[in-house]
Amino acid sequence: ATRDAQGRSSESPVLPLHAAPDPQRSAGPREPSVGTDRRRVDAPLKVTGTAPYAYEHPTTNPCHVWPVLSTIARGTLIGVDASRAAAVPGVIRVLTHADAPRLRVKADAGLWILQGPEVHHRGQIVGGVIADTPEAAREAAELLVFTYDEAPSKVELDPDDPDVTTAKVVLMRPGSETKGDPEQGWGEGVHRVDATYEHTAHYHAQMEPHAVIATWHEVSPLDVRATRLTLQDSNQGPFPHRLLLAPLLGLLPHQLDVSSPYVGGAFGGKAFPHPHLVLASLAAKIVSPRPVKLALTRQQMFSVVGHRAASSQHVRLAADAEGRLTTVEHVSTQAASRVKNSVDHSCMSTRMMYATPNRHTEHRVLELDVPPSTWMRAPGDFTGMFALETALDELAHTAGIDPVDLRVRNEPDVDPENGKPWSTRALVACLQRGAERFGWDERQAPGQRRDGEWQVGLGMASAVFPNMHMVTFAAKILFTGGRYVVQLQASDIGTGAHTVLAQIAADALGVDPDLVVTDIGRTGTPMAMVAGGSSGTYEWGNSVVAACEAFRRKHGLHPAEGASATGRSGPPKGSNKYSRNAFGAHFAEVAVSSVTDEVRVRRLLGVYAAGTIINPRTARSQVMGGMIMALSGALLEESYRDPRFGHIANGDLASYHIAAHADVPPIDVEFLPEHDPWFGAKGSKGIGEIGMVGTPAALGNAVFNATGKRLRSLPFTPSALA
Ligand code: MOS
Repeated sequence: ATRDAQGRSSESPVLPLHAAPDPQRSAGPREPSVGTDRRRVDAPLKVTGTAPYAYEHPTTNPCHVWPVLSTIARGTLIGVDASRAAAVPGVIRVLTHADAPRLRVKADAGLWILQGPEVHHRGQIVGGVIADTPEAAREAAELLVFTYDEAPSKVELDPDDPDVTTAKVVLMRPGSETKGDPEQGWGEGVHRVDATYEHTAHYHAQMEPHAVIATWHEVSPLDVRATRLTLQDSNQGPFPHRLLLAPLLGLLPHQLDVSSPYVGGAFGGKAFPHPHLVLASLAAKIVSPRPVKLALTRQQMFSVVGHRAASSQHVRLAADAEGRLTTVEHVSTQAASRVKNSVDHSCMSTRMMYATPNRHTEHRVLELDVPPSTWMRAPGDFTGMFALETALDELAHTAGIDPVDLRVRNEPDVDPENGKPWSTRALVACLQRGAERFGWDERQAPGQRRDGEWQVGLGMASAVFPNMHMVTFAAKILFTGGRYVVQLQASDIGTGAHTVLAQIAADALGVDPDLVVTDIGRTGTPMAMVAGGSSGTYEWGNSVVAACEAFRRKHGLHPAEGASATGRSGPPKGSNKYSRNAFGAHFAEVAVSSVTDEVRVRRLLGVYAAGTIINPRTARSQVMGGMIMALSGALLEESYRDPRFGHIANGDLASYHIAAHADVPPIDVEFLPEHDPWFGAKGSKGIGEIGMVGTPAALGNAVFNATGKRLRSLPFTPSALA
């Protein structure tokens, strides 16, 4: 068994190191913990550098595997000269498709590596070098000579390409839908907007790059069912990793153990397994029982772990003289990989945000010779609401109506997509409270406000994030050592899950939160959804409450050592009768230099109606993080894929810019009081991603107000404003 920093076996519950109970604090009468400020219980470990991350788990005599990435965008690998690589001291094995172990079930085409000579994109894993040290593996990898038969490739998104197709299904709903007669609605419009909004691919840049330690235990050659693979990984939850990797590797689910106790950033890029995990697993099988370590470089991440696909979004809005929408059309065309086609649901928020008698929304894809894309924080809603909320600002300007007022005038009574009543919808309250708090009435006509060399403007946009709770999962409570251990396959990706799940459990059990320990982020606990879709707190929270209630029913107030109970929960009964979403409003003040054309953000406000706030401190950090990531995408993040060679020309953090502290202004956050019984047991909604949604539009709308220049492509760089 592998052991953690405290020498505990990974086969017993991995009680987090931050779990020491404080008898003083747990004594006496107590108030509810939900709704109160609580510091993250893992904070001391994080800030002192003692939380063990994937690559840091103690191992004995590990090997290292270095991925070899293709240098063409499309073609066939026809020759490998490994003579110099194999001669590097410490090299154990060079892996290519010719001799790699076979994979079994193609559970995910993006994971199907080293099984044939075909190259589907630049940066595909086409080989690996296993060595005693990472230095030897890397040196040998650079000495490998691959020969390719190169085929013509296409890597750039062109929405007018004849190969563009309409996606049939997106987010389990039709990829394309039409209501009423959009053409007629367009004709009836007094005020109109017809514009296209674009952005390049965005790349994941977690502080902790993707890393893993893989160990393959062949217990007995006579009993393959005794084989076990352990992955000490950095991910958003074991569930999809076991689901996809086990069949791929020819293992039964229980033969694959996945753990991920601490994660240095994820943002959707660690929700699903990526092909480096397959390489590490295959290498581990070869050198079994030696563990194999793999940490991707920043540059390798640009092709191996997924990205937010480039998109081009055509929006047409028409409104009557009073600004009431007569038609809404939104066609989003996205770049997709020929290997695996995943489509962001960019038009979904357009279907439900505003009232209109006529609507057409459509998701289109163009398959290219590029790596598979993946989730990236607020997938779909980020891109779609950039387009819709900028178009609304254009409509407001054209119609001479205040942008806040325009949105209020188009507030729907029920969900325009499906006619369902709202579980709760306080968008108008967020807009009005935000306008008041931000000083929106000081906004002037475009290009009027100056501060020395700076042109100053205000902008706003709505925000939304849907409920993603669909199936039933479970949680378990175990009483041991005088503490209640919450067990489920949840994951704390930096959100505060350890902290808020303990708060939820403490209230459900009627004990001090210091008596509750979270044992999450590993298989061997009840199955739960990944930390994704902003669903963790309300969805896991539901299961935790169910488990706590089952525990008290079964064991009473004075449980014996080792007492346990499991509880299951799905979405609250009857909740599918309602349209369930969190809402918000973003307000921004920007200054644009008339000397350099740079955009500086001066103030940013987010007002949210997002259900019960379990912990105001961690909630505020979540939405601030979302706003900062959106600011980064709006002002800085831009990738260049070379059409000749198919690689990202700025594939490192020196040239792919992400926001630094100096780019981030004071950020103000307010949560409106709200309780929504149709998400989770505590009335909470999701807050992980809503800070991303609409923020780029708020910034771009502020740039328009400052300068009179309308920017429709992210990012808003000096060259875009020049
Ligand atoms: Mo998040 S992009 O839903 O993992």
